[in-house]
Amino acid sequence: MDWNLQLNFSQEIDIEKSLEKAVQARNLMLAGKGPGSEFLGWLELPGQMQTGGLVEKMVNLAGQIRAHSPIFVTIGIGGSYLGAKAALAALVDPVEELAILKGQKQGSVIRFAGHHLDSSDFHDLLSLLDMYDFSVNVISKSGTTTEPAIAFRIIRDLMKVRYGKGYAKRVFATTDAAKGALRTLSDQEGFETFAIPDSIGGRYSVLTPVGLLPLAVAGVDIAAMVQGAVAAQKFLHTVSNRENPAILYAALRNQLYESGHKMELLVSYLAKTSFLAEWWKQLFGESEGKQGKGLWPASVQFTTDLHSLGQWIQDGPRHLFETILNWEEGKALIIPVDDQDLDGLNYLAGEKISFINEKAKEGTRMAHLEGGVPIIDLYPGPLDAFHFGALFYFFEYSCGISAYMLAVNPFDQPGVEAYKKNMFRLLGKP
Ligand code: PA5
Repeated sequence: MDWNLQLNFSQEIDIEKSLEKAVQARNLMLAGKGPGSEFLGWLELPGQMQTGGLVEKMVNLAGQIRAHSPIFVTIGIGGSYLGAKAALAALVDPVEELAILKGQKQGSVIRFAGHHLDSSDFHDLLSLLDMYDFSVNVISKSGTTTEPAIAFRIIRDLMKVRYGKGYAKRVFATTDAAKGALRTLSDQEGFETFAIPDSIGGRYSVLTPVGLLPLAVAGVDIAAMVQGAVAAQKFLHTVSNRENPAILYAALRNQLYESGHKMELLVSYLAKTSFLAEWWKQLFGESEGKQGKGLWPASVQFTTDLHSLGQWIQDGPRHLFETILNWEEGKALIIPVDDQDLDGLNYLAGEKISFINEKAKEGTRMAHLEGGVPIIDLYPGPLDAFHFGALFYFFEYSCGISAYMLAVNPFDQPGVEAYKKNMFRLLGKP
């Protein structure tokens, strides 16, 4: 299937100023000559995933896990968690999950652990695990991250008591091919492992087993997701001018940044995509926010947040712009007629809710433009695995270009060490 992503933008943005810079940044990225170029493995990844047999292996394994584990605990944080969480929230049917938990259907429901240090939340998960058979996917590229390591230690203890020595057959580790504490533990205990390539950093790893294994276990069509990413890869690699939406998006955000718009609001009108924004925030925030530079990536969910943050967006400081994700309509719901019409809604009877959502979007767009908020519109297509895969790749590609336009390394995150040093000192880490 072919892929392209339509992009529109409000007229006051003078794109010509940054377009050439974006083209050069893309050339630098594709030539592997920019900073951090040893972490460009994600660029060719989708095509490689399609040919190596890894997708089939994960789908087969997922089938086995779904046959015996109603719960699949995915342990990880940051790039080792957000991609799977984003796609699951958007693509998995919650009614099916309920049927699995009620024993009416075979399959696995994904639960996450190791993405915080909130023991109450973790306690609740452990109580749930008391009620069901489960398997675990522990994901950490470094193999040493504190939050997932703590969660895995506690869950491992629970598994040893519940399943005895055979517990190891229920553990799947996604980590570095050769090094790190998780690799050592996996080799010692005999866990089945999946490798995260050296050349792919955490936040660019969603299309590796980091994201794809939990998604396959949840029943998401990961072959279609990879196909979508391949289609995006082909298009973005081939088109080298403003017809390339990644070049255009990077140029627009850079132009807006240079003209004083220091905050980008990712807007969605579909509630199920709110976690995509969390993945996107990590991708752009960790890639660009360095050396005193970088757009602040924020997100809102409309129309929900129009009733909380709408005032600020309309009337507050003018240093923000919006990037709207215009997904195609999904399942339809019609407003019924009511004989009494006490709520005054009969003028909308017979209309789809999506029609009203569309009008809310149009009205909000007009109001925010009048309020001085520049707008970029992205049209990612229908909410399915293919288009999700393509969008993941599109954002990674745009992010690489954007960071190179700021002359920063898109693939490191030196700033995250500062708090860790303090925390480890306070904890007395040897
Ligand atoms: O983007 C990154 O590299 C980070 O956010 C990591 O994904 C995150 O810190 C988790 O690291 P690890 O997979 O090594 O446990």
